[in-house]
Amino acid sequence: MLVSAKGMLDEAVKGHYAVGQFNINNLEWTKAILTAANNMNAPVILGVSGGAGKYMTGFKTVAAMVDAMLDTMNISVPVALHLDHGTYEQALDAIDAGFSSIMFDGSSLPFEENLEKTKYLVNLCAGKSLSLEAEVGAIGGEEDGVVGAGEVADPAECKTIADLGVSMLAAGIGNIHGVYPENWAGLQFDALKAIKEQVGDMPLVLHGGTGIPDDQIKKAIDLGVAKINVNTECQIVFAEATRKYIEAGKDQQGKGFDPRKLLAPGYDAIIDKVTEKIALFGSDNKADYKL
Ligand code: 13P
Repeated sequence: MLVSAKGMLDEAVKGHYAVGQFNINNLEWTKAILTAANNMNAPVILGVSGGAGKYMTGFKTVAAMVDAMLDTMNISVPVALHLDHGTYEQALDAIDAGFSSIMFDGSSLPFEENLEKTKYLVNLCAGKSLSLEAEVGAIGGEEDGVVGAGEVADPAECKTIADLGVSMLAAGIGNIHGVYPENWAGLQFDALKAIKEQVGDMPLVLHGGTGIPDDQIKKAIDLGVAKINVNTECQIVFAEATRKYIEAGKDQQGKGFDPRKLLAPGYDAIIDKVTEKIALFGSDNKADYKL
């Protein structure tokens, strides 16, 4: 059964580790992430962007697929199905489709409008026991056509949004989606500390998990990050493994063109990557908290 992300993240704050959000694109992605999380006895969040939802023919298809997989794969760890960077309309749509967690990204709106819409969604999600993530300070880089220059969140604005009763807060601290450029300055830990001081035990979310060096990930967790989003890194290892298979001519040997064979190396690569990240985030063997 799908669960809200609130319980798993409150536990992560108490236990000083982070739960991974891994974005899904199709059946193979979903099956690989669920397999890795179940093997590691780790709670996990499946992220679905508006673009990925559309690709999979809509949030309803995604919710039905994930729901059925939890059953048919005998998944015993807590799993949240989470809208990633949703607009206000997408948030309503995902709630309607049966998602258990919602991110409303109002970071590009004027702050007052972000506040009003977040306030409305806090009440709606609370009434349905769903978790809600809000964002302050746009995350840089490009994701699904949404381009952000990246800014550092204002701690006072973080507090105002946190006080609305959201379950978790994404705050820009110099992180960017996608691969980091050579000259990236790294995470801004002073900003993270200032935000943490303002928001107390509110779980903080680190977007753009791809390519952040392990020591910075660990320091961010020490300073209050309880959810880390990873997307591009799974895409890269999937593409690399698929390329290797084709370049080795394996699709031309026997029935190597069968999609179940062709997609298998990429699927295995995602399992390995998610397993590695869960160990790094420290969320392995953390599935047994009381739901
Ligand atoms: P990356 O693609 O950089 O890992 O970021 C993922 C993310 O933050 C999803 O919201």
